[in-house]
Amino acid sequence: MQTISGGPQRRGAVSIFLLLTAGPLMLAQNGNGVNLQIKADQITAKMPPTFHGLMTEEINYAFEGGLYAELIRNRNFKETVPARQNRQNPEQSRAAQEAKDLVHWSLVEERGGVGSMELDTATPLNNAVPASLKLTVSQAAGSQSVGAANEGFWGIPVRPETAYKAIFYAKASAGFSGAITLSIMSNDGTTVAAAAKIPKLSESWQKYQATLKTGNVKASAEYKFVLSTNRPGTIWFGFVSLFPPTYKNRVNGFRPDLMELLAAIKPQFLRFPGGNYLEGNTFETRFNWKNTIGPIEERPGHMDDAWGYWSSDGMGLLEYLGWCEDLNMEPVLAVFAGYSLRGQRARPGPELDLFVKEALEEIEYVTGDINTTWGARRARDGHPEPFQLRYVEIGNEDYFDREKGSYDARFTAFYDAIKAKYPNLLLINSAGFSANALTTRTPDVDDDHYYRGSDDMAAKANDYDGRRRNGPKVFVGEWATRVGSPTPNLDAAIADAANMAGLERNADLVMMHCYAPLFVNVNPGAMQWTTDLIGYNTMSAYGSPAYWAQHMFANHVGDSVLNIVASGIPYREWQQMPRRPPGLTLPTPMPTPVPEMFFSATRDTASGTTYVKIVNRSGKPQQVNVSVSGLTSIAPTGRTITLSSANISDTNSIVDPHKVEPVTADVTGLGTDFIQTVPANSITVLELSGK
Ligand code: AHR
Repeated sequence: MQTISGGPQRRGAVSIFLLLTAGPLMLAQNGNGVNLQIKADQITAKMPPTFHGLMTEEINYAFEGGLYAELIRNRNFKETVPARQNRQNPEQSRAAQEAKDLVHWSLVEERGGVGSMELDTATPLNNAVPASLKLTVSQAAGSQSVGAANEGFWGIPVRPETAYKAIFYAKASAGFSGAITLSIMSNDGTTVAAAAKIPKLSESWQKYQATLKTGNVKASAEYKFVLSTNRPGTIWFGFVSLFPPTYKNRVNGFRPDLMELLAAIKPQFLRFPGGNYLEGNTFETRFNWKNTIGPIEERPGHMDDAWGYWSSDGMGLLEYLGWCEDLNMEPVLAVFAGYSLRGQRARPGPELDLFVKEALEEIEYVTGDINTTWGARRARDGHPEPFQLRYVEIGNEDYFDREKGSYDARFTAFYDAIKAKYPNLLLINSAGFSANALTTRTPDVDDDHYYRGSDDMAAKANDYDGRRRNGPKVFVGEWATRVGSPTPNLDAAIADAANMAGLERNADLVMMHCYAPLFVNVNPGAMQWTTDLIGYNTMSAYGSPAYWAQHMFANHVGDSVLNIVASGIPYREWQQMPRRPPGLTLPTPMPTPVPEMFFSATRDTASGTTYVKIVNRSGKPQQVNVSVSGLTSIAPTGRTITLSSANISDTNSIVDPHKVEPVTADVTGLGTDFIQTVPANSITVLELSGK
């Protein structure tokens, strides 16, 4: 596909910028609107089966206190407070870390009950959980009680008529005769929303389970979870877990409202587990997949130092795969490639071989049958059926490894070992298009990442039109327009749509894309990365305008990309401000002409529906003169789905979740030639039906 596209006719100037690119013909004109020709008989690409997907990692409390439905925070008492969370008082923070305080747990003494609580390293549950919570009750009788309370992740979400499943491991001192009461209690202690009782504890470690059912209570996150007794003695708790109902009732599963938001954008693949989270600051804190499988009470958890908080690793390798199963997504597995964020890198030879072996075993865990070592382990973990896997990414953003030849050597080692054992796997180069991406082995796919402002995104939205076609396919494994916080606003969503129109037009080259980051918990202190697709707190969730842009594109795809030619596109001038090193005077660059409108067209052959995406970044309505060739007729009625709002800074939030959402309308007067006017600052999907 090679056509000529033109740049803008600049206001007050006669020059027309001509660029040699592939893609739609775009020429600036003055006059009555924009002309858009859709050549329905010229298919420029088949839509890849894995085009729209999700990218995920443990960032912004995406899983802990997010998608992973566990409600107990610090459930195995190993969580520590990283120094950077307490910049004001690093000494105190370090001390807390060394003492391994019982963070997120507190002592409850009621109606005259007296006791104490501490971490006890002398009485561990198992090797993974080397300390227990020791509750010593010195005074408790009658209505008095002493207990340990967990504050949850910004509270325990209480909903009416809801069953919560609790598990805990405990043992009691000799002669202890009390019962253990489990309760979901309001933070002020006045209301118990649900409770259950374990009548007696053993003197050796035992697992206990109970269901706590709420009645007609008011939904609220102002609750804590309490384990208490009204008899003197000592009780050790080894592990405590509480789950609300999960999506499709998956055990150790996911928060339903977030899963429903994801299901609605029809993701076809999931790239996991990172992102920086895969790499960690050092090898020690990488995503060490073997520590993330098996019974949850045997997972040690680790400090997610890439993003500065504790991961229980309840969201482990098998859970990511279960998530894929729940939403019918194809896994895109990123394996740790011997490079961490602080520059630690494995050298070819025994050091690197260890990580290559770890990756091969990981792939076997995912895909091996039950006669393989790791396939058998997966079966023991509850999933005998192997998972289908086609894509494996070697590392994450390895363009940050600036040592010459380092990624090449590492990529080669992984490539050779993986292709030898799994010749059908397609391997993704994580260094994308950087100089470091020049690898001796030719990757099957290059991963391209970009985060931009809205003008920058729009300025580059047509870039794939001009990309070489003779190299690896492209996976846009992370991208976003970063305008708005904690979630993007309409301005960002429109620039995202401009980019997606470019991705869609170039689906012969770009085979997959996924926005990042996916999630942000909007509770205070939870966010590390501003501008994230979906926001939530303890009780509810919402999609940002950018989420709705994804929704519009992913729900109106079809199977074929059609050739289009656009002319008369309005342009604006964007004054890019160069980043100047302090003290250096550099000339201000010439303003960049940036298109204000973007288009793509796809078709669903079976239903005969053509989807035309029209993105209007200009501040006024635009008339689009559409002509369709290659179809004999187009029905006079169709539909538009439009995302717009009064101001480009308009957005959705946890308190105003539906402010900017798509609106569907019937349209008439359609045919092979018609005029469609789109609103200022808008994204429009126009559905035409015709043969
Ligand atoms: O998406 C946030 C971060 O951006 C990812 O962890 C990393 O890969 C990229 O730099």
